[in-house]
Amino acid sequence: MRLGSKRIPHNSHMNSKIAPPLSIVVLAAGQGKRMKSALPKVLHPIAGKAMLAHVLDAAERLHPTETCIVYGHGGDQVRAAFAAHPRLKWAKQEPQLGTGHAVLQAMPHISPEGVTLILYGDVPLISDETLTTLVETAKQKRLAWLTQHVANPTGLGRMVRDASGNVVSIIEHKDASEEQRLITEINTGFVACPTELLAKWLPKLGSQNAQGEYYLTDILAMAVAEGVTVETAQPGSAWEVTGINSQDQLAALEREYQAVQADRLMAAGVMLADPARIDIRGTLSCASEVSIDINCLFEGNVILASGVRIGANCILRNCTIGAGAEILPYTFIDGAIVGAGARIGPYARLRPDTKLGADVHIGNFVEVKASEFGQGSKANHLTYVGDTTVGERVNIGAGTITCNYDGANKHRTVIEDGVHIGSDVQLVAPVTIGKGADIAAGTTVWKDVAPGGLTLNSKTQLTRPDWKRPQKKK
Ligand code: UD1
Ligand code: MG
Repeated sequence: MRLGSKRIPHNSHMNSKIAPPLSIVVLAAGQGKRMKSALPKVLHPIAGKAMLAHVLDAAERLHPTETCIVYGHGGDQVRAAFAAHPRLKWAKQEPQLGTGHAVLQAMPHISPEGVTLILYGDVPLISDETLTTLVETAKQKRLAWLTQHVANPTGLGRMVRDASGNVVSIIEHKDASEEQRLITEINTGFVACPTELLAKWLPKLGSQNAQGEYYLTDILAMAVAEGVTVETAQPGSAWEVTGINSQDQLAALEREYQAVQADRLMAAGVMLADPARIDIRGTLSCASEVSIDINCLFEGNVILASGVRIGANCILRNCTIGAGAEILPYTFIDGAIVGAGARIGPYARLRPDTKLGADVHIGNFVEVKASEFGQGSKANHLTYVGDTTVGERVNIGAGTITCNYDGANKHRTVIEDGVHIGSDVQLVAPVTIGKGADIAAGTTVWKDVAPGGLTLNSKTQLTRPDWKRPQKKK
């Protein structure tokens, strides 16, 4: 209806086609010497993902026209790590003459119009909300600067304000007077600026300062001198703007991030035995009534349906656990789907492409790879099941091995509904065990088994009563 369409707000999809381009520049040229590692700083992981990958993911969520990484030391390793990224541009900064000089290197690679947002490869956890605030402000032809009030501003750039509270410049710690050093509002580094203005100001930067560097921060005073409105904003949480220079800072931010994730889970009703002893490296989605014991690690995309219970010391990677399933301690699940009401572990290992039906039991020291188990089937002890289709209500005895590998190729095993397999059985694939068959303990099965009946290898049991145990020589 026409009437409705008149009410569409400014930044709706109707206008998004004509929205000005958004360019993102990521500064990542710094050496990161204090990391004391051959791995470039921005490739060090936080929550299982390289710092720079966090930043680039945040950038992508803003749908930029382009993203340009300013790189330097260790740059080839960094470029190689992101070679598959569809939209990245790379600008080399050599030598490194400061943050203003760094952004200048990116200018030939970005659109001349629209807005430019500056991010940092070593500040990994900046939020979408904060960045959106900066970009929306800059779209109104303003300079949008992210600042923060901190208890200890030592070493950081200070926001200098006039008597009426308007920000007038940024002064670096090393250039600041004693009085200016008392300012506790600091520059986080994050800024969004109309690109035309940025392109005009950057070449005018000087380096007459304590560090002999071209400071990006000096564009703020240029904006004020030209009557361009400067707006400051603050991040929702301090950890968003925490930069990393050393291993201890990285570890501290990791803990802070994990604590935030634990809080989010608990706020949604997840029962955590100890919020300080859970690690999420990816996304963990939990339905209601989920409980998680201590020392669990979740990697990639993990989905826990309602009523799932995870025991202590489990690792779950890229998996889905059905409603009411119980994962007992020391279980490692990687790339598997576990059915409702299943009981897995303790000490079980589920490998990729495993799909377990409802009420399946996989017990201790059982490894399952690329296999399906139908409803109610069990393998409770000391077993390897690989490349196998297991029907419903099958019982696999202790020590059973599917011999899926002939030294060159993998072969499939099929175990039909209702089969009972005794202890210590080898199933030499390719092989099929027909419906309802029983396999006796200690059998090596190398030919297909018809449904029903008992299959065994003929073996003799002998006893030698005259047997003497060997004795140790003196
Ligand atoms: C900078 C800010 C300071 C702010 C602080 C926040 C300037 C002049 N100062 O100071 O106001 O409070 O960050 O942490 O901007 N980089 C390059 N090329 C360079 C220099 C730096 O790519 O030539 C990158 C670094 O890799 C880093 C970021 O820019 O990611 C900031 O550099 P850094 O040396 O840490 O800046 P500070 O001097 O701490
Ligand atoms: Mg510096």
